[in-house]
Amino acid sequence: MLKKISFTVNGQAVNLDVDVRESLLEVLRHRLGYTGVKKGCGAGECGACTVLIDGTPVDSCIYLAVWAEGKNIVTIEGIAKNGELSRVQKAFVEEGAVQCGFCTPGYILTATAMADSGRKYTREEIKRELSGHLCRCTGYQNIIKAVEKALAEAENN
Ligand code: FES
Ligand code: FES
Repeated sequence: MLKKISFTVNGQAVNLDVDVRESLLEVLRHRLGYTGVKKGCGAGECGACTVLIDGTPVDSCIYLAVWAEGKNIVTIEGIAKNGELSRVQKAFVEEGAVQCGFCTPGYILTATAMADSGRKYTREEIKRELSGHLCRCTGYQNIIKAVEKALAEAENN
């Protein structure tokens, strides 16, 4: 069964018919071309498919597209502004927190939501917030350092 839905992606209005069984991941990646939304486990375990929905990180593989009606969605493609990387993206580059990059969009979107929250996080809280993301390459230390750096910069601005 098809259903017409409307939402925004990175500030752009989208109107389309979706199958009521389609995931938001399938719609964003395969129908709208946002290939920064990665498919890893497909089961809500790895965080590779994370997008922000009204500012909250969500695993788009286990979120039905029809639930996105009226929501504001941000993918990794919407994070840099006017060709300039965001504070979180820069911190990932500076700390060497990217290897193959498959997990990186998800981490950056979750870290962006943390930075935007305006609250302070201890190292343990950062680890807990990031625990829904898996990285097969980096050993996590540089990712945590990058997020700490970005959050410290957010606090000072
Ligand atoms: S692909 Fe969605 S959580 Fe792994
Ligand atoms: S950088 Fe390769 S999975 Fe994280």
